[in-house]
This record gives sequence, C-alpha cells and structure tokens, in this order.
Amino acid sequence: QNARIKIDTDRTIGEVSPLLYGNFVEHLGRCVYGGIYEPGSPLSDDQGFRKDVLAAVKELRPTIVRYPGGNFVSNYHWLDGVGPERTPRMELAWSRLETNQFGTNEFMDYTKMINTEPYFSVNMGTGTIEEAQHWVEYCNVKEGPYFAELRKKHGYPDPHNITYWSLGNEMDGFWQMGHLNAEDYSKKAREAAKLMKLTSPNIKLIAAGSSNYRPEADPNEWNATILHELRDVVDYIALHIYVGNPSDNYYNFLSTPLVMEQRTKLVKGMIDREMDRAQRGDRDPIYIAWDEYNVWYRARTDESMQGTRALEEHYNLEDALVIAGFLNGFVRNADVVKMANMAQLVNVIAPIFTNEQGMFKQTIFYPLALFANHVRGTSLDVFVDCDTYDTNEFFIGLGESTTTQTDVPYLDVSATYQDGEVVLCVMNRHKDKAITTDILSQQGNFSGNFEVYEVNGPDVKAQNDFGKETVKTVKKDNLKAKGQKMTYTFPAHSFTMIK
Ligand code: AHR
Repeated sequence: QNARIKIDTDRTIGEVSPLLYGNFVEHLGRCVYGGIYEPGSPLSDDQGFRKDVLAAVKELRPTIVRYPGGNFVSNYHWLDGVGPERTPRMELAWSRLETNQFGTNEFMDYTKMINTEPYFSVNMGTGTIEEAQHWVEYCNVKEGPYFAELRKKHGYPDPHNITYWSLGNEMDGFWQMGHLNAEDYSKKAREAAKLMKLTSPNIKLIAAGSSNYRPEADPNEWNATILHELRDVVDYIALHIYVGNPSDNYYNFLSTPLVMEQRTKLVKGMIDREMDRAQRGDRDPIYIAWDEYNVWYRARTDESMQGTRALEEHYNLEDALVIAGFLNGFVRNADVVKMANMAQLVNVIAPIFTNEQGMFKQTIFYPLALFANHVRGTSLDVFVDCDTYDTNEFFIGLGESTTTQTDVPYLDVSATYQDGEVVLCVMNRHKDKAITTDILSQQGNFSGNFEVYEVNGPDVKAQNDFGKETVKTVKKDNLKAKGQKMTYTFPAHSFTMIK
C-alpha cells in the first residue's frame, strides 16, 4: 500500500514568518575576516567584501542576520568597532585577537547589500545596561544626543533603524562570560530593556532562553523563570540547538529535528501560561526565535581551532537532510516559531565555505535556499500515513542530554498555501527505500504543472568541496496533476519540494 499525505487548506497552523530563513554572523574564526570580508583580496570589492561570497549569500536570501555573536558578544564593546580609530582586543570567547576592523557600520553596509533585516545582540555579560542604551542611540536616534551625532561623524547621517535586539546570548550557560542565574539575568535584562525602549520605542526584544541542555542543567526552569519575569517587555524568547551524529547512527541522527519540535511545544505551553497571566494589552504574544540551530559535532575540539580557523564543519548529505527536518519543523510550528537563524553564514558551521581562491556551497546550503526562496504563506496541518521507526537511546549532540524517539515517520512533511498555490516539502528519511506516496487534496482539486526540486546525492556521506558539487538541488520534470490525487515516489535519503 502507498504512503499517504492529505492536504486540507482549511486545516491551518499559522502564517509562516519570513524571518524563519535567517542566518548568523559572529566574530569567530573565518566568518567575518576571510569569510564575508577580506580587504586586499582580488576577490573582494573596494570596501573589502568578498564578491563571490556575496553572490552566494544573495542566492540564499537570508531574511534576517544576527550579529555580532554568539559567545563573542558577552565581552564585546561596540565602541571599539566604530569610527576611524579601532581598538584591538583580546578576544576571550574563542581566544583570538580581535582587530575590530569590522564593526557596526560595516555590518550595516553588508545588510543593505544583501537586502536583509539586521538583528543585533547586546552584551549582557561584561557589558552594562548603559552601554546597551548607547548602542541603540548610536544606531536608531536620528540626531541630537552624543552617540547619534557620533554616528553622523562616522559618515552615517541616517539612523540604521535596527528593529531586532537580543538581550544577551546563552546567559544560562556556565561557559558564557558574565553568566548569570535566571533571576539575576531577568533583573539585568529588564532594566536594559527599559533603557533601550526609552531610547527607541519600536524595537523588538529577544530574551536569551535556554541553550544549556546538558544532563545536569534545568533548561525548563530557566525558560519558565525568564518568561515569567520578562513577559511584559520581550517579544521573543531565543532557543538554541546543535545536533550531531558522533556515534554514526544515521537513523538516530535523522530524528534529531523532532527534539527541536518537542522543546518548541514545551516552551509554547510556558508562553501560553504567561500570556494568560499577563496584561499585554493589544501586543502580540511572545514568539520563539530558534536563533541558533545547526549540525555541529565534528569541529568542536581545540584541535579544530587552528590559526584563524575555527568550527569548520564539512557537511554531508545526511546533515542536509537534518537541516530539511529542522526547516519542516519550524514550518509545522509556524504559529509560535517566528524566527530562525542557521548558525552561521560563512566558514564557521556554515552553508558557504571559502579559501583564498574561491568558495563552495556546502550540502546544507541547498535545503535552506529552497525554503528561503519558495516557502511562504499559511502553514497547513498535513496528515501523513507512512511507516515509522524507533530509535535507541542516544546523545542528541555533543554535550547534550540523551533522547529516545518512537514512531519517527520515514516521511517528514510540511506544506504551505498561498494564493492558490501549495508548496509541499518532503524529506524521505529512509536510507535505502524510495517511498511511493499518494498526495490527496481534501479541498478542491490539484490542477496544472507542479515544479519539483530534489536535494540528493549518491550516498548519505556524500560531501561537496572546492570544484566538486556532489549534493545539490536538481530541478526534475514538472509533475502534471488534475483531480484530487497525485502520486509521487520520494527517493531514498532525499529532500523534495513540490510547488
Ligand atoms: O555558533 C557558535 C556558538 O555556539 C555561539 O557563539 C554560541 O552562542 C553557541 O554556543
């Protein structure tokens, strides 16, 4: 019997936020220097931006880019990176020298070139609430006070008008410089929020939710406390997840995006409880921003930090399928997940990889680019009937807790609907078997030509490299459909988009 996917345009989950297709640029390894920015390189423009990287970033169409960290931000003093005199500093998060040659204004120039929304993180570690306020003033106030005038002196007469600001990074993690407990973080974040909003009332604030899922941590306690304490001031809670396949078990690994969905549902319950108690007037509820997610487990040790190199994961097809699983999961939870940022953009756990002579697109580039370019509109609650499997107990990623997943469907599906057009995204987790599937419309008929895109490769360990593109998106023959049913066979270990 064929597997079945039923699509009903009346069964809706929520609007897909365009901000689901974000990325992240941290001052780490070769993400900024040698990644997006390499002054003096024959591949760079007059300002120092790598033109080949820029073209690839534009294909990826990131809708929002987070900056400048990450762990880096917790000892970052933004004034070091603006104006004609730059102050070099010891960079303690990743043990480097930070020249501060690249800073706020260079990043803002880049966001304009790639037409993306900037998303800044303030230093809630070693920084003060006053320093955060000064940065908002520098970026968002037109003229008059000292820091607005300083920006003008630096050659930027118009304000940058940055809407999205996060109140620190991973403040629940013992590794974070200036790490706080949930009560102390909430107090500091609330006061920073007060000053930042007094300076620029329309900004949106993101609280640093849980990132520490080690067995000894209590991420639910952290999230419940900060949501309770900050519910009147924040617009989003940020969550982070990194998964991996350290024991080389394909089926366990392919189930890891479901952990993200389980955590989403837990936090959604906490948000609902606080919204019920809060007096938020007409304001939107708090949403979830998965503002760091990716596969990251190979390049985690000190040996992975060599010279200027750090966290340089080389991705394969199974990693790309996990990314497709994350993106499907965000779309399936579109009512509450309103932002997501793949960590990061270039070289550091990233979809784009460079050397001095050029670049290549990693496997994970392709599912992200497909979603960013095609998946919009209303997320639909699809019915899926297919074979399933159970995992044994395994570590979600390095330094993470363990999980067991039951009834993992071989077909991982999301669907969206906009202006009469359905986009169906299907990841076939099966390593060896193609799955023939009846796709049934419960409302109206399919009609016309459907475009079909597939990300696949010869085997799940296939990788791309300089001059070698083994895993990529292939446009298949159009599917013609008329009536309530179409049948499609999803190849083994593949991601397919039918539009
Ligand atoms: O993205 C790499 C690092 O992962 C970030 O700096 C930090 O926020 C997280 O632990």
